[in-house]
Amino acid sequence: MKKILPIALIFLASIGAEARKQPKKAQFTHETVEIPAVTPQVIAVETAHSALILQVDEKGVVRTVHYGNRIADPGQFLRFDPRYYRDLDPGSLNYPAAGGRFVGNPALSVLYADGTRNTELHYTSHETSGDRTVLHLKDYVTAMEVDLVYECCPEADVIVARSVIRNGGSKAVTLTDFASSSLTVSARKYFLTHFHGTWAEEMQIDREPLGHGTKVLESRRGIQTSQCGNPSFFLSLDTAEWSETSGEVIAGALAWSGNWRISFEEPENGQMRIIGGINPYASAWPLKPGETFTTPDMIWTWSGSGAGQASRNLHRWARKRQINAGGRITPTLLNNWEGTYFDFNAQLLKGIIDDAAAMGLEMFVLDDGWFGNEFPRNDDRAGLGDWELNEKKLPEGIDHLASYAHAKGLKFGIWIEPEMVNPASNLARQHPDWIVQSPGREREQIRNQWTLDLSNPAVQDFVFGVFDRTMSLSPRIDYIKWDCNRSITSFGSPYLGTEQDRFFIGYIQGLYSVLDRVRAKYPDTIIQCCSSGGARVDYGQLRYFNEVWTSDNTDADSRIGIQYATSLIYPACIMGDHVSVVPNHQTGSITPLKFRFDLACTGRLGMELQPKTLTPAERAFADRCIKSYKGYRDLVFNGDLYRLASPYEGDDYALMYVSEDKSRAVVFVFNLAFRNRDKFAAEYKLQGLDPARRYKVTELNVDKSCWWGDGKAFTGEFLASGGFNPSLRKPHASAVFLLTTL
Ligand code: GLA
Repeated sequence: MKKILPIALIFLASIGAEARKQPKKAQFTHETVEIPAVTPQVIAVETAHSALILQVDEKGVVRTVHYGNRIADPGQFLRFDPRYYRDLDPGSLNYPAAGGRFVGNPALSVLYADGTRNTELHYTSHETSGDRTVLHLKDYVTAMEVDLVYECCPEADVIVARSVIRNGGSKAVTLTDFASSSLTVSARKYFLTHFHGTWAEEMQIDREPLGHGTKVLESRRGIQTSQCGNPSFFLSLDTAEWSETSGEVIAGALAWSGNWRISFEEPENGQMRIIGGINPYASAWPLKPGETFTTPDMIWTWSGSGAGQASRNLHRWARKRQINAGGRITPTLLNNWEGTYFDFNAQLLKGIIDDAAAMGLEMFVLDDGWFGNEFPRNDDRAGLGDWELNEKKLPEGIDHLASYAHAKGLKFGIWIEPEMVNPASNLARQHPDWIVQSPGREREQIRNQWTLDLSNPAVQDFVFGVFDRTMSLSPRIDYIKWDCNRSITSFGSPYLGTEQDRFFIGYIQGLYSVLDRVRAKYPDTIIQCCSSGGARVDYGQLRYFNEVWTSDNTDADSRIGIQYATSLIYPACIMGDHVSVVPNHQTGSITPLKFRFDLACTGRLGMELQPKTLTPAERAFADRCIKSYKGYRDLVFNGDLYRLASPYEGDDYALMYVSEDKSRAVVFVFNLAFRNRDKFAAEYKLQGLDPARRYKVTELNVDKSCWWGDGKAFTGEFLASGGFNPSLRKPHASAVFLLTTL
């Protein structure tokens, strides 16, 4: 004590000195600014079956009063009291800003030049034209302005929302929260479904009831949007269970390929506020006077009949409005990665092309390992960045292989990873300042590589150039596999100088601007988004890419869970799905070839192996599966998905795709465990069929069917009533049935 006292006195004295220093004089005025009165009104943003209803009160405060079924007279919500307190507002502000009476997590918070942070948004006007409604909000004290943009896809019951934030004041400000959209709903119970994962185990399902407090889903990995989660969710209302076919469900997804955050806050009044947008982590965004910041899109859908319908809504919207050439049928393919890894030459590859053609596949994709001379890409330790043909490995050139494939009737694809650089490369030596790094700190390697700083326009030009130069290796390149095999660590940009907080957002803006240029020049090239498997699965990149590789794990047992979960948010037309060898290279598991094929046929079918390892009988079977797939894949690419049994809930997985006109369907059934007599016959209630029409049911790719009804016709009503009970007893037994109307 004796020793501490003098120190404590010095400390207290220094506090006293601090307190005597006057803070910089703030421009506080005590006269309040008049808020113009507005006419109270209701604004309804409507789709075929859903409505988002906003209430504007006389002070111009905008509240969400309903997101759910469409109602005939939304004007009745004019006087609706959304259970908020008069003196505090924990609840239903439509786009809550930090400040005013609002006391929850904000969608917007602004740091002003005078150090204050209070923003109060008031309605000024709105306009609706066609399916687009824009609300204009303004803070009358600071002159911040926000436009809330809602674009509806009526036939899919989807509302796409974004915010345009403008600094209308005369001094620079900093945005510290800048969400795309916020929604408040009211129910007695909230049940959240979301995704977690890791490499080779992406898109695993987590389900939990939500209570008071805030639940945050997010990514801070910079460029791997979805390795450990996915910027999307399902919220079931008034229930503590998942149902495919009943109950109210809201699903949301953010179209952004960088750091993201979606939060769920149940304030004291029992409502649930959902806020989705870019993660503001290390990303305070400066806005000069007159500048605007446009957020990415948040996609919302509502279903009154369970999660299945919510998925179909998202799928339909995505195929029609979001995915590059969504629903276009892309070729079946053979990718050489697991077949050869880095160890190949032209002769070996031509042999694979011959076999792929003989099995009826439609494209050959040359994976990693074709580039680098001084630093040849013979393993993952060298070559990234030096995108010139490896003369030793492939002296005949890429066009030689592409022409060979085309001559055999196959298209040709090739792998690149243009955002990355190995330390062992000429690029790393020539442009050390292009590498993501933080001053004075080690540039950590992941998979022996560094990331290029796409916030730098010179790097953007380089990355575009990698794509462009690769395409120029042959006029016969039809497909590019664009990989991205690490996330960001020790973040920082030599280019951005003291504006480092622009890095995370600037990188993704840079990526999108490269992809804009790619698509302007190569509108029809099929481009796969791969990121160590499924680490970049989001609706932002899907504006540019045609498909994703959902995981590096090709074991059918693992893929079932990954693909099931992916199907909640994303349509089957984007899922590249490959048959590989057994024992599986990632898990060591052994599954039957039929099981592997049947599962791969639920997405865009491919193979990833050395065909020479297959026996003649296996090749003949592959032939048969590929041929039958071509006969129904239009249903996989463009049909409506109905999930019949979930691998997360039982010992089987079953799903079906139905054509829009309900004239055809394909049903897949996978048995995952031994079925004893008591559960011998699994009965499936088929969905989405026309009850009155008769469907002929044919099991594909077998000589003897596992269902007594094979080859016969049944009404949609019978098939929906438990009449369809194929008998699959053994683990890994699977079946595919085609349904055609008579
Ligand atoms: C990543 C991809 C794989 C393969 C390898 C090549 O892991 O996900 O499919 O392309 O890179 O190095």
